[in-house]
Amino acid sequence: MARENLQGKVALVTGASSGVGWQSALRLAEQGVRLCVTARRVEALEKLQAQVLRAGGECLVAPGDVTVQADVERVVHACVEHYGRIDILVNVAAVQSYGFFDQLPWEHITRTFEVNCFGYMRFARAVLPYFRQRGSGHILNVQSMLSKGGAPLLASYTASKHATFGWAQCLELELRGTGIDVSNVLVPSVATPMFDHAPTQFHLAPMPVPPTYEPEVAARAVVKCARRPGQTAVPVFLQGRLILWMNQFVPQVGKWLMGHFGARLQMREKPVDRPEGSLFHPVPQGVGPRGSVPPTPRWKRFTAAAGLVALAGGALGGAALGARELVRAVR
Ligand SMILES: NC(=O)c1ccc[n+]([C@@H]2O[C@H](COP(=O)([O-])OP(=O)(O)OC[C@H]3O[C@@H](n4cnc5c(N)ncnc54)[C@H](OP(=O)(O)O)[C@@H]3O)[C@@H](O)[C@H]2O)c1
Repeated sequence: MARENLQGKVALVTGASSGVGWQSALRLAEQGVRLCVTARRVEALEKLQAQVLRAGGECLVAPGDVTVQADVERVVHACVEHYGRIDILVNVAAVQSYGFFDQLPWEHITRTFEVNCFGYMRFARAVLPYFRQRGSGHILNVQSMLSKGGAPLLASYTASKHATFGWAQCLELELRGTGIDVSNVLVPSVATPMFDHAPTQFHLAPMPVPPTYEPEVAARAVVKCARRPGQTAVPVFLQGRLILWMNQFVPQVGKWLMGHFGARLQMREKPVDRPEGSLFHPVPQGVGPRGSVPPTPRWKRFTAAAGLVALAGGALGGAALGARELVRAVR
């Protein structure tokens, strides 16, 4: 994989008014990438723009809703008009809605797919004609560890992320040999404002499945993928490579933990009444990279990793013993 020089490249970043999108835009700008940033909240985008300009970067604000085809086309057109090119599409915009699957309003389920899955596809289809014409380009999708796993209370979000990851894998194969790359970042729980504006069916504020990392972790992975296109990046060990490994070899451990504690782990002792949040309309809360949920301290992450490794080891040992008993029984 050749390492690309990002200086002077043009990136269109969706979902840039908060969280991972905001932080990734800042980090890309530091590498000399010229930005076109989009989301629904124009004032938030202008704040990001001011920060980028102060640091000597370039940033065009092009607000829009990823569920509206005309907005998507207008944003891509504005980017190409302004810079004369577009090199990287960073798909980030997403929403989630907390609730038991059968109690979620149907509109929440379809809206989650409209933003998280069809939003990514709409932007990809809008930039692909430019990329094909030039014979180069990069579609960089911010995915989730839930693109490959499951969690209670987030069925529609998780399903949309699985779908988006499946779509990205197909796209990568279709684009082989065209000069257009597809990358994915499997983001762990990060302390963004997502949990301050996500709707919930409960009366307690939502929080990410711990451990929670700094949004910077995701932004660094985005920059790494931008430099070395065509990879699926897993930025962390504990809520990353270890979990993927466990899901493959000792899936019973994760299922037991998430089945018993998954719902409770996603609620804070903070009362809220937020049936719709920012799902259909943007809300003023939650601008910038960080939200009100703090990242998990490093020592707690270390302890959790040790505990998980011990549990996985125990489960593997148990499985080995079980297999030996089975062999004895059938002899
Ligand atoms: N936070 C986590 O723990 C976590 C974990 C794994 C993966 N991720 C992934 O990371 C990405 C960013 O999430 P985040 O945590 O940064 O969340 P966030 O802070 O809530 O950011 C979501 C962004 O999407 C935009 N957006 C939402 N609906 C939109 C719409 N209809 N049209 C245009 N923009 C829309 C929001 O801006 P406006 O409201 O201004 O439109 C906002 O900029 C997502 O793909 C998410 O799945 C996050």
